[in-house]
Amino acid sequence: MAWRYRAVVLLVLLLMMVLISACGDPRPIRRLPAPTPIAREVGPTPTLVPELAAAAGEEQVATAPGGGEQATLPVPPARPVAAEGQQIFAQNCAACHGADGKGVVQGTPNFADPAFWRERTPAESFQVITDGRGAMPAWKGTLDEQQRWNVLFYAFDFAVDEETLATGQQIFAQSCAACHGADGKGVVQGTPDFTDPAYLATTTMAQQFEVVTNGRGAMPAWGNQLSEDERWAVIMYIRTLGYDSTRQP
Ligand code: HEC
Ligand code: HEC
Repeated sequence: MAWRYRAVVLLVLLLMMVLISACGDPRPIRRLPAPTPIAREVGPTPTLVPELAAAAGEEQVATAPGGGEQATLPVPPARPVAAEGQQIFAQNCAACHGADGKGVVQGTPNFADPAFWRERTPAESFQVITDGRGAMPAWKGTLDEQQRWNVLFYAFDFAVDEETLATGQQIFAQSCAACHGADGKGVVQGTPDFTDPAYLATTTMAQQFEVVTNGRGAMPAWGNQLSEDERWAVIMYIRTLGYDSTRQP
């Protein structure tokens, strides 16, 4: 019966090691945006989730704001730099998407329209660049992970208007920085880190708009104080905190 005792002791030791190693690694925690009730409603569509989970493979992933064990979304390994995507875009994408991002080939979206980007997480668009969809080719064999993130945010930059950005920056400094920090990293407890690319990759502007409009917890509602355009402007500004944009306020 001694072997049985030893096996139990061994199992307990093993469990303790797993627990200790899990506690010692702060990275997964830092990377995960706090699960939010809003995000839960907005989360990825059920049909998209298995695709995303399967395609994520060994790449960087984070639990989607929606939570749930299979809701993993790809996140950038490093902060995306839109300027690094410029040449990639000119060489590989402009033929179909146009040098201005407005689209040449039938079925291509208009990247210059901010509304195109509002309902989707950057992670979802990254997945389309990675695996392709319909007439859109897959780029995972041609571009490495970081290049795909860089070119995605180069495409996103077509929607970033500098005047809007300047408006957003001003509103942020006046009304938001007290709690979110002048750098967007967060001062008050519970505020997300807007400069974290993982936060950027897994949130939609639409869900941010909802929270900015109606508030949530310690986050005040701005629906009565800021116009719809002003709310979208400040959200656009917040987006650009998560990557190096080619646009300046
Ligand atoms: C052969 C033409 C073609 C080329 C080349 C091409 N695309 Fe596309 N792309 C499309 C089409 C068509 C769609 C729309 C696909 C759909 O909605 O099913 C699309 C969709 C997209 C989307 C929208 C994904 C979403 O969130 O719905 C992004 C982002 C994108 N392409 C980026 C790129 C990038 C970056 C490159 C270059 C590395 C590129 N495309 C090259 C044709 C192309
Ligand atoms: C009094 C402090 C405070 C002020 C002022 C404030 N916020 Fe917040 N904000 C918070 C807190 C706290 C949260 C986290 C709320 C939660 O998750 O329950 C938050 C969350 C957010 C989120 C995250 C929503 C999500 O689901 O990812 C956005 C976007 C946001 N705030 C934008 C703004 C903007 C824009 C302004 C200025 C117009 C602003 N905040 C002003 C405290 C504040």
